[in-house]
Amino acid sequence: MSLFKKKTRVGDRPVPTHIAIVMDGNGRWAKKRGLPRTAGHKVGAEAFRTIANYAKSIGLKYLSVYTFSTENWKRSEEEVNAIMELLEKYLRELIRDMDKNRVRFCFFGDLSRLSPQLQEEARIAAKESEKYAGVQVNFCLNYGGRAEIIRAAKQFAQDCADGKCKPEELTEERFSDLMYSAGVPDPELVIRPGGELRTSNFLLWQSAYAEYYFTDVLWPDFGPKELEKAIAAYNGRNRRFGGAK
Ligand code: FPP
Repeated sequence: MSLFKKKTRVGDRPVPTHIAIVMDGNGRWAKKRGLPRTAGHKVGAEAFRTIANYAKSIGLKYLSVYTFSTENWKRSEEEVNAIMELLEKYLRELIRDMDKNRVRFCFFGDLSRLSPQLQEEARIAAKESEKYAGVQVNFCLNYGGRAEIIRAAKQFAQDCADGKCKPEELTEERFSDLMYSAGVPDPELVIRPGGELRTSNFLLWQSAYAEYYFTDVLWPDFGPKELEKAIAAYNGRNRRFGGAK
């Protein structure tokens, strides 16, 4: 039996509760067209907007997107600045249109390294959208899976040192509650467009039993049809969670 409730459907196919996406391929999309990489990120942001709306329309509950990784700081200053500016603009629009879109926003990652402006926008977006219960978008921003696990381990160790708990009390559930994703069910499906076949430090703890879907389609070209294909592939898989065939 599946571990998630198959309530919502695309056509005759059930939709998972939580889908996570590595939005990869913006740079190559731009290069193929003789455009600067930043142009690819711009179109990538629009692709995200379309996918988020579609996700809402099919009743997806959680959509997590790898927006900026802890490793992405290694890119040129020009590119990092352009992505940050794009994010600021995007969050401003998101706050402006919040009542129309009715999406709840969460942020996973260490936001302290971001500009004060971006931190403030993220805080407002999260706070003001708490009231919406339809779909939740988790922006993984300055996020790294290993860093998240280390952060949780430090927190638990500190709680033990403070006498709040004992090491032997640590369970998977308790550890999950120390992740940025506390309270969010694990993703059943992780999608990576852009042709690379790796996880790149994305939701490492949460994806232990996720199904992966890889496609060569570059993120700016990834639309609702591609999402449907990924969901159809997911539905064709036999999820056993370590059990017998
Ligand atoms: C990966 O493509 C993309 C990023 C590292 C940045 C992600 C940013 C966006 C999608 C735009 C902002 C999004 C929102 C939601 C506002 P890449 O640059 O690694 O592409 P490449 O592998 O072809 O070089």
